[in-house]
Amino acid sequence: MEQPPDRKNRPWRFSTFIYSSSILLLLLSILTLSFTKTNLYKTKSLFSNPKSKPPNPPSPPSRCLLWMAPFLSSGGYSSEAWSYILSLHHNLKNPNFRIAIEHHGDLQSIPFWNGLAKETKELAIEMHETECTPNETIVVCHSEPGAWYPPLYETLPCPPYGYNGEFVAVIGRTMFETDRVNQEHVERCNEMDYVWVPSEFHVASFVRSGVGLDKVVKVVQPVDVEVFDRLRYDESLDLGEVGDLVLGSGGEGLGFVFLSVFKWEKRKGWDVLLKAYLREFSGGDNVALFLLTNAYHSDGDFGNKIVDFVKELNLEEGGEGYPCVYVIDKHIAQVDLPRLYRAADAFVLPTRGEGWGRPIVEAMAMSLPVIATNWSGPTEYLTEENGYPLVVEEMSEVKEGPFEGHRWAEPSVDKLRVLMRRVVSNPDEAKVKGKRGREDMVKKFAPEVVAKVVAEQIERIFEEKTRT
Ligand SMILES: *[C@@H]1O[C@H](CO)[C@@H](O)[C@H](O)[C@H]1NC(C)=O
Ligand SMILES: *[C@@H]1O[C@H](CO)[C@@H](O)[C@H](O)[C@H]1NC(C)=O
Repeated sequence: MEQPPDRKNRPWRFSTFIYSSSILLLLLSILTLSFTKTNLYKTKSLFSNPKSKPPNPPSPPSRCLLWMAPFLSSGGYSSEAWSYILSLHHNLKNPNFRIAIEHHGDLQSIPFWNGLAKETKELAIEMHETECTPNETIVVCHSEPGAWYPPLYETLPCPPYGYNGEFVAVIGRTMFETDRVNQEHVERCNEMDYVWVPSEFHVASFVRSGVGLDKVVKVVQPVDVEVFDRLRYDESLDLGEVGDLVLGSGGEGLGFVFLSVFKWEKRKGWDVLLKAYLREFSGGDNVALFLLTNAYHSDGDFGNKIVDFVKELNLEEGGEGYPCVYVIDKHIAQVDLPRLYRAADAFVLPTRGEGWGRPIVEAMAMSLPVIATNWSGPTEYLTEENGYPLVVEEMSEVKEGPFEGHRWAEPSVDKLRVLMRRVVSNPDEAKVKGKRGREDMVKKFAPEVVAKVVAEQIERIFEEKTRT
């Protein structure tokens, strides 16, 4: 990666723009699509000749928090990063630092950007235009460690110029879905001043893997309990409209609706889910399973994948046929997600490992009863009182991909069957757990709660690093 000369003490964003032309292009197209003329004009002229922008000294405070994350992608890190930024923006009273953001760590998706709320886009532009001097900035690199400086693939590096002490401090915000962290990633973590992870589970697995004990700090994730609030919506998304029937006969009314939301990969336990659901229920049960999924290193023909998988299972179909399975593989905009959860009666995800499990906490905030594997990220918030933790009795070895040789949870099909049946048969119990789920989300993970935690960390680091 070539570095622009003479970058020291210049607001860092100028120099990054020079070599991040793809971001520039994307933002330009975004702006052309969705912004008012004034914004467009301002941004265009800024982009077309960044060096000649008249000096515009930042108004106090001069301290900055620069958050670099896959803001323009759809994915776990992206939604997590947005939730932090929005929490900080809306909940910090008189912060003594400004917030700047930059896209980093994953490919950009225009449909994702277009699905964001208008205010969110406007705020993003504003924060993207915030200028920070490195010597007064704390950087958060919020992504998987392979994207950190020097990145293992093409992305804007974070920190932008390596670990040369230009910034006040550099924090890596990351997580992992298996029982350990790769040696390469451990080394990358140890380059950071701090590594923020979302749960006790991660603190333990990172330290066990060799990340410095004094570096690892638990910082939980916020969930937008205002947006994900059942009471705010009068209507649910029309599931019949967005879902394609893959198994079962469909027909009048959906009955009890299970919803699952995941990327199509083995880790998410879709095989366990289908086995449990198809063995426990039949066409006579008046239940439906909706899978909101998207492709992950695979093509998107999920209907056929499911049909092939079911053929291999050799299930007895029985007289009443299969229970209904629907796939939702179109992009559901962020603003429509709450109404999707609202259309379900229970959320289920028998995952093998999660960093956090955003769809699980979103469903909980929407007062849905949730069934999820009691291992990794979810152990931070899922209990017998607020949901249905799926007990893990067995671990298995990861057989493919970059985590090969690691271990993760192997959720039991039989135990999942019991829980799915239980949530259908005991609606009162399910309702109590759903209600408690929301209460816990509000109490522990509401944006104002988490914003306070983050701000305290940042302020403490500024104090420490500027004292000497
Ligand atoms: C940071 O660098 C700028 C530009 O060189 C300088 O004006 C400012 O005083 C420095 N701030 C600190 C806290 O050292
Ligand atoms: C879930 O996991 C946590 C952490 O390992 C454990 O303390 C808790 O007892 C488990 N809950 C259930 C229901 O198995």
